[in-house]
Amino acid sequence: MQLFDVYPLYDITITDARGSRVYDDNGQEYLDLYGGHAVISIGHTHPHYVNRLTSQLNRVGFYSNSVHIPGQVELATELGRVSGREDFQLFLCNSGAEANENALKLASFYNGRKKVVAFSKSFHGRTSLAVAATDNPAIVAPVNAGADVQFLPFNDTEALEAFFKDQGDSVSSVIVENIQGVGGIHVATAPFIRTIRRLCDTYNAVFIADEVQCGYGRSGKFYAQDHTETSADIYTMAKGMGNGFPVGGISIAPKLQPKFGMLGTTFGGNHLACAAGLAVLEVIAKDRLMEHAASLGKYWMDELRKFKEIKEVRGEGLMIGLELGPEWASLRKNLLFKHHIFTGESKPHVIRLLPALNLDRADADRFLEALNKEFK
Ligand SMILES: Cc1ncc(COP(=O)(O)O)c(C=O)c1O
Repeated sequence: MQLFDVYPLYDITITDARGSRVYDDNGQEYLDLYGGHAVISIGHTHPHYVNRLTSQLNRVGFYSNSVHIPGQVELATELGRVSGREDFQLFLCNSGAEANENALKLASFYNGRKKVVAFSKSFHGRTSLAVAATDNPAIVAPVNAGADVQFLPFNDTEALEAFFKDQGDSVSSVIVENIQGVGGIHVATAPFIRTIRRLCDTYNAVFIADEVQCGYGRSGKFYAQDHTETSADIYTMAKGMGNGFPVGGISIAPKLQPKFGMLGTTFGGNHLACAAGLAVLEVIAKDRLMEHAASLGKYWMDELRKFKEIKEVRGEGLMIGLELGPEWASLRKNLLFKHHIFTGESKPHVIRLLPALNLDRADADRFLEALNKEFK
């Protein structure tokens, strides 16, 4: 059997990883500023993470959601504390798309409505409703295309006001990335987010913050939305939550009440996933990684803005986008093959930096030096 060939691959095989370094099967070292797409939050093979997962695996790796799983309660308590949302409720699943799918469904159960408002350049995942709310027709199959999704321009408060005035009573939920990731690192403005909050309150719609990529401390605050001093009704998360172990979740405001059978999953919240989630939160809290992400991100962005070749530097904390012109189309490949630095991208011309939250300053500088050489 062959693999279903959907990924264009670099000809690299990673066999080892530590902190912000990965190594290929020839022993070549790379600096990882991509984190496997914003997934590595506390660094590869972090000792606390490896110990917690190993000792959990030696006791019990999996049992279903038909019995008590103490790790789930522990994770909910810790997540409530670190995110400053102690009165919220946690539902665990396995991925970002699944988190969004559950959030959109829960909103619809709550207010009995169907319409979803999403925004230009959004990416919410590849399952049925999540992909229908994603602004990329190329990945929406005909079977997903029937969902009632209205796309509005991102950061356009007037368009949002006008739409709600006209159709607000039929809106079930508004889903937004506080910092768009796949769309190219675009930060939602505070007035835009505050307008969503106000309109959702007025029309009894549910505010869903997709924090799958920008959340979990990456922006320098636990949720990127925290920069706007507003609260969503549901936060969705995944990626950095398990530092590579597949785990996702939704943090749900008290006004949305559960019923038996309303949501469910076989694997979500299993013993190993909870151990991974707890290990990540413990390291984030103990090593003050949110503060570190904020200060290193600020330093890095200030330095990056000094390059006249970069048209714009956008982002918060350690979620940074570099807008380049078409003349730098080969920069990402050069960084990888000449300088051995992994970065992310957003088509057509954005380089994305999504490193582990404990990246150190010397590594940030190594990237600046590589850019210096390339721009010369
Ligand atoms: C903002 C956002 N939401 C949802 C997803 C989907 O997550 P997953 O690939 O875990 O399903 C992604 C993945 O890139 C994302 O960036």
